[in-house]
This record gives sequence, C-alpha cells and structure tokens, in this order.
Amino acid sequence: MYSSKIAGIGHYVPKNIYTNNDLSRFMETSDEWIQERTGIKERRFADRFAETTTTMGIEAAKIAIERAGITEQDIDFIIFATLSPDYYFPGCGVLLQREMKMKEVGALDIRNQCSGFVYALSVADQFIKTGMYKNILVVGSEKHSFAMDFQTRSRNVSVIFGDGAGAVVLQRADQEGQGILSTHLHSDGADAEILAMHYPGAHANKWLPDNPPFPDQELGGLFLTHEQLDSGAALPYMDGPAVFKKAVVKFPEVINEALAKNGFTAKDIDLLVPHQANLRISQYVQQLLGLPDDKVFNNIQKYGNTTAASVPLALSEAWEAGKVKQGDLVCLAAFGSGFTWASALIRW
Ligand code: UT7
Repeated sequence: MYSSKIAGIGHYVPKNIYTNNDLSRFMETSDEWIQERTGIKERRFADRFAETTTTMGIEAAKIAIERAGITEQDIDFIIFATLSPDYYFPGCGVLLQREMKMKEVGALDIRNQCSGFVYALSVADQFIKTGMYKNILVVGSEKHSFAMDFQTRSRNVSVIFGDGAGAVVLQRADQEGQGILSTHLHSDGADAEILAMHYPGAHANKWLPDNPPFPDQELGGLFLTHEQLDSGAALPYMDGPAVFKKAVVKFPEVINEALAKNGFTAKDIDLLVPHQANLRISQYVQQLLGLPDDKVFNNIQKYGNTTAASVPLALSEAWEAGKVKQGDLVCLAAFGSGFTWASALIRW
C-alpha cells in the first residue's frame, strides 16, 4: 500500500478587507462584541462579480501545483470542498477542471461544510493508498459574502464568516512513515438543522414544521418559493451556542483519536491547525490538550471563519511562515454543520 503526502500547498484571499467597524455600518454590532466573542478583527470579501468560489479555488490551486513542482496536466483527480458553490449543481470541481484546462480527470465535490477539507483530504488519501491516482488536487474555497444577509437579524452569522481559498496537491509519498498517517471522520445528524441553510431544498418542511407554508400547487416549483425568500427563511441559520458546546467536545475527541491511533500523545504534536470557527474554541482546545501557543496556528483574526477553506488557508499560512518543517507532526482538525467532524495526522 502507498502513502500520501502534501507535495504543494497554497492559498488565496480576496483583497477587500472588511473590519468589524465596517460591518457595524450595516447592522447593530461592534468591534468589541465581535472580538470578545470570536477573536475576529477583520475578514476578506470577494469582488462581488469578478470572483467566485471556483476562481478563488483556482488561484490557490495554481500555487499548490507550482510548489509541488508539477503542472495542471499532471493532476489525475480533483476534489473540491465548499458550501458556497458557483452553481447549486454542477459542483465547482468541473468548473475548475474547465478553467484550468486540465485533462478529462474525475472531479468530486464534497459537501461537508467546515469539515469539508479534512474529509476531502481523507478521500484523496484513500485513492493514493490504493495506487489509483498519483497527484490529487484538493481544494477548499468559499464565497460566503454573496449569500449572507448583512442586516441585524443575521448578525450572529454574518460577522463570523469570510471568503477565501486553500489548496493542496496530495501526492504518492516516496518515503515510508512520511505524509498522512491517518484520518478520522465522524457525523451525527441529530442536530442537522441547527447550522444549516434550509432553503432551497426538497425537504418540504418535513424537518422544519414552523417554516412558511408552501403555495397550493400540484407539481413543481417548490424548491425555493417567493415566501421563503421574502421571509428570510432562505438564509444561513445557526444556533451559535449549541454549535459551540458540541464543538468544544468533538475537537479534542477527534484529535485524541488520531493521536491514540498512531501511538502519540498531545505533547508529540509540533503544530495543531484547527478549523478556524472561533478563537475561543481554538483556545479552549489548546488549553485542554496542554499545548503552548507556538504549537497552535490561528488566523481567524484576519479572515474570520472561511469554512471549507479555513484549514488549508491556515496550514498554507503556517507553512509560509516556516512553522511546518520536514519531519514535524502536524494535526488538522475540524468541526461543523451536520454535525460532522474530522482529523488528520501528518508526518510532514
Ligand atoms: O464553523 C463551525 C460552525 N460555527 C461555530 O463553531 C460557531 C460556534 N458558536 C459561536 O462561535 C458563538 O456562539 C457565536 C460567536 C456565534 C455567538 O457568541 P455567543 O457568545 O454564543 O452569543 P449568543 O449567540 O449567545 O448571543 C448573545 C447576545 C444576544 O443578545 P441577547 O439575547 O443576550 O440580548 C445576541 O442577540 O449577543 C447578541 N448578538 C450580537 N450582538 C452584537 C449576536 N450576534 C451579535 C453581534 N453583535 N454580531
């Protein structure tokens, strides 16, 4: 069996910076509230019309491919993780394949929100392990700014999320014991609706009895209705405190699972790169694991929560800052909507 390694990594963030004070022009919020509750100081928002989730993913992918020392033509599979795709369908993977003029390789889209990138990495790892592919492009990208509502009614959601992209080339490793040591994926759908975008959808309010009634018509046209749009039901929804409570349990659990599987303990970690959900969550996890500040990488202060992009964006910045060196034990961990959560342990 082969093993896989991250051969190249890159990220892209849009140039438009929105500080907390900028957001307070649109809604009742404050820099003090946002920083105290989340650690976020500013975030990037994509150019509304020139940039898309796919184009940002492409910018990150180009860097990852170049750093891997290969070309687009060497990529033999694409995995694209996002919750803010350019189209409801098809997914961004095929758009990236088209725009990067790649060969007619497979393109898989992953819908696991904040855990999307770690899930994608795990899928890529399996394909490399079996020998099916040698160079897989794994992308996480989000353009949240296009869908969010910047009114006070949505302030618990819209102050948190930002746009950006990260990508890696996962490649067959040539040394034993190098690369991805293990990945760990979990889900619990019991609370699927508490961090979700309920509309558009085909659920017919089966799980959401309190939402606006459907127009009286026999067939079709109910995937997204005028009533849902007008009432604000078709906006991202989050019960923040409930998500927070679950996250602080599942993050340490899945990190410890990865460590135990490989015979390590927290003190063996050289760098933990947690999904950037909330600085308070990262700090709580850090404290619980007894890790010093220089072993946990956070950049939520600059970018907010970029969902599927957050882990590769943080890992890429950490790598560029020289915080990830050959031989280091790197742990990636994520938790988000679904709920889903996941970790990956990597010998760099
Ligand atoms: O990526 C994975 C998914 N997401 C997460 O992991 C997020 C996890 N949750 C959180 O990070 C936190 O729950 C939030 C940052 C979302 C919210 O922080 P909180 O400390 O849990 O606040 P809260 O939702 O309990 O709200 C407290 C108060 C409320 O006012 P009242 O009812 O006490 O008068 C909110 O209306 O803060 C109010 N509030 C705001 N005030 C100013 C909510 N959002 C804002 C805001 N600005 N942006």
